[in-house]
Parts: sequence; structure tokens; C-alpha cells
Amino acid sequence: MTGLSNPTLVLNDGNSIPTVGLGVWQTPAEQTRQAVEAALSTGYRHIDTAAAYQNETQVGEALKAAADNGVAREDVFLVTKLWNAEHGYDKALKAFDASAKRLDVDYVDLYLIHWPMPEVNLFVETFKALAALRDEGRVRSIGVSNFAPEHLRTLVDGTGVVPAVNQIELHPRFPQQELREVHAELGIATEAWSPLGQGALLSDPTVVAVAEAHGKTPAQVLIRWHLQLGNIVIPKSVNPDRIASNFDVFDFELTAQDIESIATLDDGTRLGPDPRTFNWTG
Ligand SMILES: NC(=O)c1ccc[n+]([C@@H]2O[C@H](COP(=O)([O-])OP(=O)(O)OC[C@H]3O[C@@H](n4cnc5c(N)ncnc54)[C@H](OP(=O)(O)O)[C@@H]3O)[C@@H](O)[C@H]2O)c1
Repeated sequence: MTGLSNPTLVLNDGNSIPTVGLGVWQTPAEQTRQAVEAALSTGYRHIDTAAAYQNETQVGEALKAAADNGVAREDVFLVTKLWNAEHGYDKALKAFDASAKRLDVDYVDLYLIHWPMPEVNLFVETFKALAALRDEGRVRSIGVSNFAPEHLRTLVDGTGVVPAVNQIELHPRFPQQELREVHAELGIATEAWSPLGQGALLSDPTVVAVAEAHGKTPAQVLIRWHLQLGNIVIPKSVNPDRIASNFDVFDFELTAQDIESIATLDDGTRLGPDPRTFNWTG
């Protein structure tokens, strides 16, 4: 456990989310339990999985093991996501049942629509199902992922519900200024995926220089950059030492000058697909 604890952010529905979580995309199922257990024993209280990651079962096993070691289910903020092939009201309800069963939990803290799938054009109906799950108490907060401004506005107009969170690709090369402004306007929390640029930013000379100035690692500097921007951040690692050091970010601050120099990395590089054209259901 690190010295200082992880601050939480209050969402627009009044629930609190720990601002640093462990992501488990591309964590092989057989390594997921140990990664999640390492995170929980370090002090993380937020885990980000998805039906598509094919490791919900192992996340659930780690939660059970942690509960036996004093970290209760209600102390952990558990996030999962509805996959693209499951859009539509009834399909979404069934998909949630399947996720909850794999995770072996009574409720999920945050359930996200993974991608908007504009060609399928069912995200409004899908979000109504998420609202019903929230009303039943099976999900505490509901949100979206990879929604562009026009998707967010269509969703709010069509359901009257503002998502608590939009989880989006965000890192210094792709800081998403415009979308973060829309989030601020609507009251949506910004959650950053691929916060380390999938590892590619860790050797960037600007990031390395800031890290050296603070006696911190490049990953710690990037995670700190997200926190100081106001983002929720979910770095992924399977390595227990890196999992621990990625959480040791609450005892230092980047200066305004550090933030300015990191801002020069913005070159519009997207690592993942563009949500406006991504309609893959595979
Ligand atoms: N909603 C979406 O559509 C979406 C899309 C992508 C990702 N996500 C979420 O966001 C999470 C994070 O994004 P990501 O997995 O794409 O990338 P990331 O967190 O930016 O980077 C992960 C990579 O960095 C390495 N790494 C982590 N900490 C390190 C450290 N301290 N030193 C050196 N290397 C380090 C990891 O390797 P090791 O594991 O070997 O340490 C891995 O290769 C995902 O796991 C997932 O939960 C969501």
C-alpha cells in the first residue's frame, strides 16, 4: 500500500469513483486474477473490464479472493462494458445478466456502452436498458465509452439521462480538448483509456525529462498528468511492480511548466479506431 490514498471523483449521480483504476484489456485470462489481486493489495479500489476482454470470470475470482483477505466487494468500484453485438433494449438486458454471472456479482458499479456503433443506431434504446438496470439497483452508475459529442447529445435528448462517464482514448498525443469541454458542459466525467499511449509514450524524451526532474517514472508522470487534468485514469499492467508503481502517484505534483511541455506532444495521434466510423460487432 502506498503512503497516500487515491482521491475519488463524485459523478453526476452522486456516486464516487476512485480516480485511478486498473485496466485489464489484453490481460490474458490466465494472468487476470493475479493482476487484479496485486492491484487490490496495493490499494487500487477500481477495476475496469469488459465483456469483450474475455476475463470477467477471472476478475470476479480476484474480487472473491480479495474479499477473503479483507477487501470487501462494496469497497471496490467495478466497471464492465456492453459489447457491440449486444445493442438493443432486450439484448442489453441479457448481456448484462451474462456479465454479472461471469463476474459472479449482485451489482456492477458502472456499466458502459463500449462503442456507439452509429450505423447500428441503437445506442439510445440500449442506454434505456442501462437506465432500467440502474433503477433496479443492479448497476449503480451508467455511462458510455467512445461517444463523440453528437452521440452524447443524441443520447441525452433521446433518454433524458446524462451518462455519468464517457471513457475515451486520451493521452498527451490525443488530449481530446473539444470532447473534454463537451463533458464539462454536460456534467460527464472523463475517463482516459490507453492513458500511457499503450506504453509508447513511456520513452518519449519530454515525458522522460519531466520524470527525471521529479525523480519519478514516465508512467507516474503520465498518470499524474491525467489526474491534474481532472481525468479518471485506468493504466493496464500485468506486472505487480508496475501495478504498484503506477499507483504511487499521490505524493507529487506536476508544475504548470511540466503540463505545458507535455501539451507539445499533441499531434492528433489516435491509437484506436475512430468511433464515428467503427461499427465492428466481431
Ligand atoms: N473503452 C475502450 O474502448 C477501451 C479501449 C482500450 C483500452 N481501454 C481500457 O483502458 C485500459 C488501459 O489502456 P491500454 O491497456 O490500452 O494501455 P495503457 O494503459 O496506456 O498501456 C498499457 C501498456 O503499458 C505497459 N505498462 C504499464 N505500466 C507500465 C510501467 N509502469 N512501465 C512500463 N510499462 C508499463 C503495459 O505493459 P505490462 O502489462 O507488461 O506492464 C502495457 O503494454 C485498458 O486495459 C482498458 O481497461 C478501454
